[in-house]
Amino acid sequence: MATVADLARLKETHPMLDAVIDEQVGRKIRIGDHWLADFASCNYLGFDLDREIIEAVPAFLDRWGTHPSWSRLLGSPVLYEQIEERLTALLGSEDSLLLPTITHIHMSVIPVLAGSGVIFLDGRAHKTIYDGAMIARGHGATVLRFRHNDHEHLEELLRTTTITPRLIAIDGVNSMTSNAPDVRAFARLAREYDALLYIDDAHGFGVIGERAPDELCEWGKRGNSVVRHQGETYENIVLVAGFSKSYSSLLSFLALPTRLKDVLKVAAPPYLYSGPSPTASLATTLVGLEVNDKRGDLYRYEMYRKTQRVLARLHELDIYTPNRSGYPLIEIPLANHEDIDPVGRYLFERGIYVTMAAYPLVPKDEVGFRIQVTAANGDDEIDLLCEVLGEINDRFQLQHDRHRELLAEVRRARG
Ligand SMILES: Cc1ncc(COP(=O)(O)O)c(C=O)c1O
Repeated sequence: MATVADLARLKETHPMLDAVIDEQVGRKIRIGDHWLADFASCNYLGFDLDREIIEAVPAFLDRWGTHPSWSRLLGSPVLYEQIEERLTALLGSEDSLLLPTITHIHMSVIPVLAGSGVIFLDGRAHKTIYDGAMIARGHGATVLRFRHNDHEHLEELLRTTTITPRLIAIDGVNSMTSNAPDVRAFARLAREYDALLYIDDAHGFGVIGERAPDELCEWGKRGNSVVRHQGETYENIVLVAGFSKSYSSLLSFLALPTRLKDVLKVAAPPYLYSGPSPTASLATTLVGLEVNDKRGDLYRYEMYRKTQRVLARLHELDIYTPNRSGYPLIEIPLANHEDIDPVGRYLFERGIYVTMAAYPLVPKDEVGFRIQVTAANGDDEIDLLCEVLGEINDRFQLQHDRHRELLAEVRRARG
C-alpha cells in the first residue's frame, strides 16, 4: 500500500477517480449534478453511440440469448467464425483468434510462446505485457529488458543470448505517449535473429491503417493497425489488439498463423477455461466491422481533425506533450507532480473529464493528465477543452520544452 499511497488518497478524495457516472448523452457525462465533456473514453470511433450498431443488437440477443456460456474449446456460436473471417481479411493476416480481453491473451499466450526460452521485453511495455512476461518467467522463461524503443540495445541482447525460443514483446501505439515504434526495424531484427515479434496495438487498431493515395488523412485507411500502417507483413510477427477501445466491444484478438492458432486452442487457458464475451459484444464487433467498411474512414477523419485542433492549441500555448505522432492520445505532464489533485479538480469544475495519470501509474516526472479524442466528441467540446487548456496553463505549472531539457540534463548528471 505504501507504493500506491498517492493513488489511494486520490481515489478516496478526487471526483475524477473511481467516479460513478450517472448518465451519458453523446460524449457528455453526468456525475451527480455536474455535466462534463468526456475525454477519458477510449471509444475512439464512437461506435458505442452509432445507431446502426445499437439497433442491430436485439436481433442477435433473440437468436443467441444474452451469453454463450461455453468455454471456447467446448463450442462457440458461429459469430466467432464470422468475426474471425472478416477480421483476418481486414488485417491481411494468415489467420486470427478471438479471446475475451488483451489481458487474457498476454497472461496466457506469452508463456506459451516463450516456453523455457527468452523474452526480450521493452523497458516501458504496458503493465499487462509485463505481467504476462512475469508469468512466463514463473514457467521457466528468462526475461531480458531492453531500453524503450532502443533497437541497438535489443540487437546487443539478441546477439549475446543463445537461449531459444526468442520472443520480442513491445507495444504498438503507446498508451501514454501515443507514439508508435518503428515496426520495420523491430521486424527486421526478429527475422534476422530468428525471434517472434509480439506487438500489442490496443490503441492503434481502429485508429491507424494501411496507407493509400486516396486516404482522407495521414492515419491511413481501414484502421487495420500499426503493422499494416507501416507497410509490414506478418512474417515473424504476432499482432495482438482488442475491440474494447475503437469497436466499443468486450473482445480481443491475435493475428497469427493457423498452425499457432491450433496450438493455442489447446494450450492457452482462456480458450479452454474462461467464460466468453457476451452476445452483445459479439454483435457489436460484427456489425462494427461492417460499419468500419462503410464509414470507418470518415469517423477516423473526424477524430484526426479534432485531435489536430487540440495539438495545435498545445503548440500555441507552448505546452509540452510527448505526442509526436499526432494520434488521439494526448498526455500533458505537470511540472510539479503534487499539482495533480488541484489540476484535476479545476478540470472537473470546468466540465472536462480526463484520465488522471497519477503516481505510481506513471513515474513522478510524467504525472499529469491524458486526453483521448474520439470521433464522437463534439466541436463544442473541443472548443471548451482548448479554452480550459489556456486557463490551466495560466494557473498551474505545466512542462515546456525548456523544462524537459532541464529534466534531461538532471538525469544525465545523475548518470
Ligand atoms: C496497451 C494496452 N494493452 C492492454 C490493455 C488491456 O486491454 P484489455 O482490457 O482488453 O485487457 C490496455 C488497456 O488500456 C492497453 O492500453
